[in-house]
Amino acid sequence: MESGGVPGVVHEADGLTIRLRPVAETDLEMFRRFCTEPGLIGLDWAGFRDAAAPARRYAVDGYLGEDDGRLIVEVDDPQPVAAGLVSYRAGVYGGTAKYWEIGVALLPECRGRGIGWRAQALLCDYLFAHTPAQRIQAGTHPENVAEQRALEKAGFQLEGVVRACEFRAGRWRDGYLYSRLRDDPSPWARPRE
Ligand SMILES: CC(C)(COP(=O)(O)OP(=O)(O)OC[C@H]1O[C@@H](n2cnc3c(N)ncnc32)[C@H](O)[C@@H]1OP(=O)(O)O)[C@@H](O)C(=O)NCCC(=O)NCCS
Repeated sequence: MESGGVPGVVHEADGLTIRLRPVAETDLEMFRRFCTEPGLIGLDWAGFRDAAAPARRYAVDGYLGEDDGRLIVEVDDPQPVAAGLVSYRAGVYGGTAKYWEIGVALLPECRGRGIGWRAQALLCDYLFAHTPAQRIQAGTHPENVAEQRALEKAGFQLEGVVRACEFRAGRWRDGYLYSRLRDDPSPWARPRE
């Protein structure tokens, strides 16, 4: 079983401490790298982006907006290291039903160590604890097996294929849509597979 920490903020398991924390000015260099290093962000690479944009956004609200934001995924390695980021953005179904769409990007050296699924599970705990949302969704790519598996381990279920939903790497491509509802089973309570 996973052992609990502070819901949505810190989690400890298998000698790994993972926490979500607000973005600090020192994290902006990582955000700039995601804007300018081809492919560093993974399949979501969409060409070069304005490297000054992260500092502008940080100056507005520290990436803690009402309707969208980012948190840093920090791991003790053994000193605290910024492993990447999680993001959240509000959407609305039917005019009133607010939901969250989340995202994640870890630096390459931090992938494949059980950080990604736990960071997304922590973010769900955080959003369910601090907002009344019933639904959190996440999209990924058919070839992104790591993220599909990470979402499943974080308690998400596959809803279906969203056809031709994104233009990426030269053509329109399908996406996979996942969701986790407030009352879905907690991934922390599941025996490890
Ligand atoms: C996708 C991502 C967040 C996954 O996080 P991660 O820390 O690498 O994944 P985890 O270590 O938590 O592993 C979760 C599961 O995926 C599996 N997995 C990890 N990397 C994998 C890979 N490259 N291929 C296949 N499976 C993989 C793990 O084995 C684990 O499953 P298991 O417990 O059944 O073995 C991370 O790799 C990443 O940041 N990638 C680049 C950005 C990105 O793709 N973001 C998502 C955009 S939709």
